[in-house]
Amino acid sequence: MVKALTIFGGTGDLTFRKLLPALYNGSVSGAESADYQILIIGRRDYSTEQYRELARGWVQKFSRLPYQDAAFSRFAARIEYYRMDFSEASAYAALDAFYAARGIGEHIFYLAVAPRFFGIIAEGLASVNGAPQGKVILEKPFGENLAAAKALNARLEAIFTPGRIYRIDHYLGKEMVRNIETIRFSNPLFTNLWDARFIECVQITASEDVGVESRGGYYEEAGALKDMVQNHLFQILSIVAMERPYEFNGADMHAEQLRVLRALRPVGQEPIRDTLLLGQYEGYQQENLVDPHSRTETYAALRLFIDNDRWRGAPFYIRTGKKLQKREMEVAVIFRRPRPDVARNVLIIKIQPTEGVYLQFNIQKPGDTEEITQAKMDFCQSCLLENRINTPEAYERLLGACIRGERFWFSQWDQIETGWQYIEQLREAYRAERLPLVNYAPGVSGPKEADFLLARFGHAWFDDD
Ligand code: BG6
Repeated sequence: MVKALTIFGGTGDLTFRKLLPALYNGSVSGAESADYQILIIGRRDYSTEQYRELARGWVQKFSRLPYQDAAFSRFAARIEYYRMDFSEASAYAALDAFYAARGIGEHIFYLAVAPRFFGIIAEGLASVNGAPQGKVILEKPFGENLAAAKALNARLEAIFTPGRIYRIDHYLGKEMVRNIETIRFSNPLFTNLWDARFIECVQITASEDVGVESRGGYYEEAGALKDMVQNHLFQILSIVAMERPYEFNGADMHAEQLRVLRALRPVGQEPIRDTLLLGQYEGYQQENLVDPHSRTETYAALRLFIDNDRWRGAPFYIRTGKKLQKREMEVAVIFRRPRPDVARNVLIIKIQPTEGVYLQFNIQKPGDTEEITQAKMDFCQSCLLENRINTPEAYERLLGACIRGERFWFSQWDQIETGWQYIEQLREAYRAERLPLVNYAPGVSGPKEADFLLARFGHAWFDDD
């Protein structure tokens, strides 16, 4: 039976920048996705040949593995372009015939489109032979707001059973995000100290040097809280904080992650000004497709507590923003001082751009002295060329995981719903208190108010530079 991966929204940014390069890499490295025909669905009037040429340009620009003519030709031979208005219910009968003519019987559908099309596409596919028995991959945002997302989810689940729906959170495909569990649970050095008795705070940083670029229209609705915190950063937070899953499978891990999110200290128990700070970079209001009086945040800093036995008393700080000094994503675990006269031990899991682990601990300064200094061990996993070449990118991994049916590395609806609810409550509380949206200049490490948020509680953002 011929297998096909159909991409709805095949002329969008996600397909060009991420999916085509990931599929090309998979083709070169012989990944599972190499067994699939690739059907690109779009509304634009391209021939397959024209589309393949476009794809060549994107692959040359963004693929991890070097571009090679012969390898690209083999890859491109699997691509077909199919013009279709996917919001038109009557168009699906022709799509059904198209699949039948090619003997395609096994399906994966990638919905790289705005969420308002999810329901229409799913309902259209209901009439396509074999489609509801296939798998469907979705990208955030899963709806414009929580209520819309819930309604959309119900529509999707009426056609595709929940086990066939794969919600991508591409952070879960990142090498060092996957590594957090191993670092935590395979090293007694960390496993046994991983709680509020020994850990003073955890800091999750995701800063970007770019602005909203061509995505002003989408971002204006989302803002940093919905774009980064409620999905990517809550995934990381819950992996850092979860109990050891009974087994490392999808169901057990999701259950533990969900418990963490449910244990977040309810909004309202702490003053909101001690919990959240929102900012906007100067110049954001002049970006394309952005309201000139926009109140959308491009920066967020949060101080959260997980009210369970493991974490009571150790805050989790999160910060993320656009147009900052540098692109850097890391988790810093700050241990408590054993005595006031020595520095804190620090473990940093570096997610990007460098992948690695940094450990800072106290040693005696060399020489006849009792002075204490800090040893700084910096392990760079991605510095080795062979590691760079052998490490698949997030989208390559997640496509493979979907094909193999490993639900482990996808977000579950109940996680999304719980995170979303929490973020909506926070935002509402911030609005109700009329707290300011602080401005920051492009290129800084963050608004100074984000430093005060921690300083009020005797903490500071850890900076390993
Ligand atoms: C996306 C957000 O999910 O993640 C973007 O919508 C953000 O705004 C991107 O830039 C960051 O991803 P990465 O992999 O570059 O860290």
